Amino acid sequence: MTGKSPDQRPATQVVTGGRRSEWTGDPRLGGGIVNPPVWRASTILYDSVADLDTRGRNTHDRLFYGRRGTPTQWALAEALTALEPGAEGTLLYPSGVAAIAAGLIAILSPGDHLLMVDSAYDPTRSLCDGLLARMGVRTTYYDPSVGAGIAALIEPDTKLIFLESPGSLTFEVQDVPAIVAVAKAHGIVTMIDNTWATPLLFPALTHGVDISMMSLTKYVGGHSDALMGSLTATAALWPRLREAAYQLGQHVAPDDCALMLRGLRTLDVRLTRHGESGLTIANWLSSQPAVGTMLHPAIPGCPGHALWKRDFRGTSGLFAFTLKGASKDERAAFIDALTLFGIGYSWGGFESLVVPANPPRSAVPWQSDGPLVRLSIGLEDPADLIADLDQALKAAGLQT
Ligand SMILES: Cc1ncc(COP(=O)(O)O)c(C=O)c1O
Repeated sequence: MTGKSPDQRPATQVVTGGRRSEWTGDPRLGGGIVNPPVWRASTILYDSVADLDTRGRNTHDRLFYGRRGTPTQWALAEALTALEPGAEGTLLYPSGVAAIAAGLIAILSPGDHLLMVDSAYDPTRSLCDGLLARMGVRTTYYDPSVGAGIAALIEPDTKLIFLESPGSLTFEVQDVPAIVAVAKAHGIVTMIDNTWATPLLFPALTHGVDISMMSLTKYVGGHSDALMGSLTATAALWPRLREAAYQLGQHVAPDDCALMLRGLRTLDVRLTRHGESGLTIANWLSSQPAVGTMLHPAIPGCPGHALWKRDFRGTSGLFAFTLKGASKDERAAFIDALTLFGIGYSWGGFESLVVPANPPRSAVPWQSDGPLVRLSIGLEDPADLIADLDQALKAAGLQT
């Protein structure tokens, strides 16, 4: 088992990735272990000063000092790299937000200009308006439907275009190839928050993006018990990201990596089930009189649905809808009446979740026919989830 084969399909790669024999077994012990064990280490010992001088080089994927990782971290990184054809490597960060911040800091310098999609995850906006602004990086928010029109927003100092497709509250699908083509023509780096799709549904580097970011906390972990983020990048950018990660002292615990690897092995089947159940539920909700707008990339009418159909291999289980003409109190009553949906941030776990959503916007005002509700559909039987949504709509007085 080498764990690395470019010919494998993604469902196979999530099973084989990172399982190199030198990380999973020791020939002296006569066998291999299925999962890469948890190698915990801060100190790495050397045999002698001469050994320290030769082996103790500050290299990647070699035991050097705990902050550079052990085979547990390397196995997860390698497995994620295998899912993005065209990638040179993956770096791991303590959370998705840490990954976004590390990527932006690695690429941007004072005086640079950043184009940020208006539908970005709120903490990504906070980073732009806070830390990056203080560092002297200017941000312009752009309409997620801009497509090739992004060319008009490029300034001489524009260094990075950040995409999130679909947006994780409002689900607009972006024309990634059109934006990438403009970026490449101007020598601008592109980075995408690919958490909704994962490379299984949208291999971002295949679509020309330079850096693909994921909050592994969501679908990869899949069990709502660990936080982590990743950046997977092309050969041109990978060394720069790696140096910045080293300089920022980024490190993730091997125990958490083992949890992420465990989640990754079942990602393909879970994502399929999340997607199928989500579609069943979204279709049911679309037929309910209390529901106004359905924001689900796989449902016709969602902004960018045609792009989703063109570019994506499937759907995950996160979407939103409006309660037509309802008040925020009625939305709260509906959410409070749900029994199978936990009220909580995050998504992508085995359990269904619900949150009220109030999209922050600055480029294009958010227009809505009612307050927004976001659902993360878990692995429960969709019939039970529909029954729960049905009783909650009635309990809130939104439907009879
Ligand atoms: C789209 C998106 N990106 C990034 C993040 C941040 O991930 P983390 O919670 O791992 O920091 C989230 C978290 O909700 C998210 O929804």
